[in-house]
Parts: sequence; C-alpha cells; structure tokens
Amino acid sequence: MAILVAGGAGYIGSHMVDRLIEKGQDVVVVDNLSTGHLAAINKKARFYQGDTRDKAFLTNVFEQEKITGVIHLDAFSLVGESMTDPLKYFDNNIYGMIVLLEVMKEQGVKYMVFSSTAATYGQPQSELITENDPQVPINPYGESKLSMEKMIHWADKAYGIKFVALRYFNAAGAKADGSIGEDHRPETHLIPIILQVAAGQRAQLQIFGDDYNTPDGTNVRDYVHVLDLADAHILALKYLKAGHPSRAFNLGSSTGFSNKQMLEAARKVTGKPIPAKIAPRRGGDPDSLVADSHQAREKLGWQPQYDNVEDIIKTAWAWKQKHPQGYND
Ligand code: UFG
Repeated sequence: MAILVAGGAGYIGSHMVDRLIEKGQDVVVVDNLSTGHLAAINKKARFYQGDTRDKAFLTNVFEQEKITGVIHLDAFSLVGESMTDPLKYFDNNIYGMIVLLEVMKEQGVKYMVFSSTAATYGQPQSELITENDPQVPINPYGESKLSMEKMIHWADKAYGIKFVALRYFNAAGAKADGSIGEDHRPETHLIPIILQVAAGQRAQLQIFGDDYNTPDGTNVRDYVHVLDLADAHILALKYLKAGHPSRAFNLGSSTGFSNKQMLEAARKVTGKPIPAKIAPRRGGDPDSLVADSHQAREKLGWQPQYDNVEDIIKTAWAWKQKHPQGYND
C-alpha cells in the first residue's frame, strides 16, 4: 500500500517524500530527473526513473506497486520561462496529466492530490484571493495548471477519480537540518537568488520592476514553508479517503511580502549587505498574490508550523550554508 509521488525528486516533491516517510508511509517516486535530483530523494522511497508522459513506463510502475493514491507534483513551474517557451509547458504539464489520469483510471486508483498554483488566478481582483475567485491566468504556466485542474474535474465526473487541487502560493524554505533544499538549474527564484548574493556567488540581486501597483512598487508574494505544503498534501489525502468531495484549497500564509521586504528580511537573517538594483519587469508577473487560506485550515485542519518569513528564510539559509553548490556538495 504505497503513495506514488510524481515529481518526487523536485524541490517540493523531495520534501513531500521525506515527510511521508517520516510519518511511516510507504512511498514510490517517479521522476525523469529533468529538473530534479537523485540525491534529493529519501533513500527509503522506491524510485523509478521515467517520464510521466510515457504510458508504458507508468503502467509498469502501477503494476509493480500497490498504489493507493497519487500526489502529482510533476510539472515545469517557471513563470518566466513559460512566457518564452509555452509549448514546453503545455506538452510536459498537460500531456503528463492526461497519461497519469489514463493510467490511474485503468489501474483503478481513485485519489489524486494535485499541485496547482496561485498562478491560475492571474491578476487578482481582491487583496486576499479565495478559492472562488476568477481563474484567468496571465502566463502559460498558470494556464497549463488551470487546464490540469479542469482535466481532473472531468475525470472525477466520468471515472470517479477524487482529487484535491492545492493552489500553492510561493513555496519557500527547506528542511530545518539543511539536508534537502531548493536547487534549480538555472536558479530563477527570489529567495535562492538573494541567498546566492549573500553567499558571494552572485554580485547583486536584480529586483524585477518597482512600478507595480503595490505599496513599495515591487511585487508582493505570499511565502509558505515547503514542509507546511507537504503536510497539507497528507491531510488532503486523508480528507479524500474519508469520502469528502473533490475540491481546491489555497495554501498560503495570508500575509504578503514585497520583493524589497524579502530582501530586507534576508539581510537581517544572514547579516550580509546583499547588494541589489532595480531592473526591468519580468514577463508574466502579477502585482500581488496573497492567499486567503482559511478553508485549508478549517476543512483540512492544516496548521502551518512556519508563520514568519524570517524563520522560512533561516531554513533556506541553513541549506545554502550546508550545500553552497546545492546537490553537488
Ligand atoms: N524576482 C526578482 N528577482 C529575481 C527573481 C525573482 O525580482 O532575481 C521577483 C519576481 O519578479 C517575483 C518575485 O521575485 O516578483 C517572486 O519570483 P519567483 O520567481 O521566486 O516566484 P514566482 O512568484 O514567479 O512563482 C512562484 C513559483 C510558481 C508559482 C508562484 C505562485 O515559481 O511556480 O510562485 O505564486 F506559481
């Protein structure tokens, strides 16, 4: 009786696998290692290297293992890259979901917790985004995840595959002991880039745009610790197995931090000056993305352990100090 984690070698996936194993769960990982790292996968998980779009590969995994539920985190997820290469996103993310659902249907696996995103909302209409707000993506990444949400919705209606779509806001931080963490190649995310500057690996931070419609003009985001995200998936599986209907939940902290505020917080945590300059806007960035996540707290019983952005940055800094070159160290 195992949980399949698709994308379990990635940043969020590896923390997900680690948490499941800590809780005594039997875990199977599939990942093609195109962006993930073998060293990130907890050794107690059974790992199958292959692509979610490869139906024969995936069918073989389901036939070898007794899978009772799927946590699907396997996707490309860079907003900026999706603007310049949208078809890469539609192929990997949308086609991957079709094949995974087909195999689940054929193998009679009924539960999926799906990693969706705040990027499905596009330019929000309200300060705190609720699950019922309009989903009008402004980048192909968000579009791909919205299509995936719609696919599972119809797969539920037709085949009874129950799902929870978790719309993450900005995943951040690392396991507190610094053993696993965030390592993208190339790195494009704000916190790891700030910490590269703090570690002397990059000359300065470029803040993409200071003319947004926000209090200090820089984008506002809602940072949520990666292990709090992992816990929400475990609760979501339990929720589905208890017979609750399929639905989506936002996962965030309900507090927004601007890019400038994040820089200040990182300066405080690291004690480093972290030089920065304002650079042109990056494509596809909404002004502000902040979650109303009371539904996840009420309905799933989700209680995030990290409610302070400095504590989150501290865990990312612990990983950075222990692994300055990421999984190469
Ligand atoms: N930023 C900079 N300079 C950098 C890197 C980022 O100013 O060198 C800015 C971005 O423009 C943005 C903010 O920092 O305003 C956060 O950017 P990230 O790339 O860290 O994260 P995103 O908000 O673009 O996207 C992340 C995930 C997505 C997810 C989204 C949900 O990568 O998968 O959060 O809010 F959809």
